[in-house]
Amino acid sequence: MSLRVDVCTEDDLAVLLAGETSRHLAHHHRERFAVQAQGSGHYLLAWRDGVNVGRASLTAQSKYAPVRERWPGCAEVNALAAFPQGQGTGTALLRLADSLARADGHQRIGLAVDPDDPGPRRLYERLGYRLWDGGPVVDEWVELLDDGGSRPHADPSDYLSKPLRENTAA
Ligand SMILES: CC(C)(COP(=O)(O)OP(=O)(O)OC[C@H]1O[C@@H](n2cnc3c(N)ncnc32)[C@H](O)[C@@H]1OP(=O)(O)O)[C@@H](O)C(=O)NCCC(=O)NCCS
Repeated sequence: MSLRVDVCTEDDLAVLLAGETSRHLAHHHRERFAVQAQGSGHYLLAWRDGVNVGRASLTAQSKYAPVRERWPGCAEVNALAAFPQGQGTGTALLRLADSLARADGHQRIGLAVDPDDPGPRRLYERLGYRLWDGGPVVDEWVELLDDGGSRPHADPSDYLSKPLRENTAA
């Protein structure tokens, strides 16, 4: 089974929405595709034999104010997920994020990580990401519940980043 990673097309979005039972995820598929359509990012998808096996959003700016202040041009990866895990999907999505961010002219890329979950962090460090010295960031997001309600979250996170070009400070 060969892995294909690419940006989301309108046809891909239709496939995602047709198979999506979660209101929360359906909202995010639409939202990330809209960000891409506005030219402010890319929605990256991974496929094996026509089945969606992973995703990540790549945005032109960080969602965290302290990161934007320090590195206004820092691209950011959010919502990375692979299913099943451990088959190289996360690695392939992150490599595609690097190359798209470079092609868009970004000199740095970053992401937030759960400080209590060492698995993803190992992968990010293997790909060159390092903890910034700006302290924790708070990942604020709203979960849309299938009963129509919503639940706010505020997760303290570590911020990792890496330069995309040699000898530059983004
Ligand atoms: C994190 C995630 C996207 C990585 O994608 P993946 O396709 O599983 O990763 P790959 O197969 O490309 O690489 C495997 C590497 O991921 C890391 N890893 C990620 N999660 C891990 C876990 N739970 N246990 C062990 N290693 C893990 C390891 O470094 C592993 O490499 P190793 O086996 O040499 O130690 C995926 O595991 C996932 O969806 N996790 C749940 C959601 C999540 O935590 N997202 C990240 C939010 S910051």
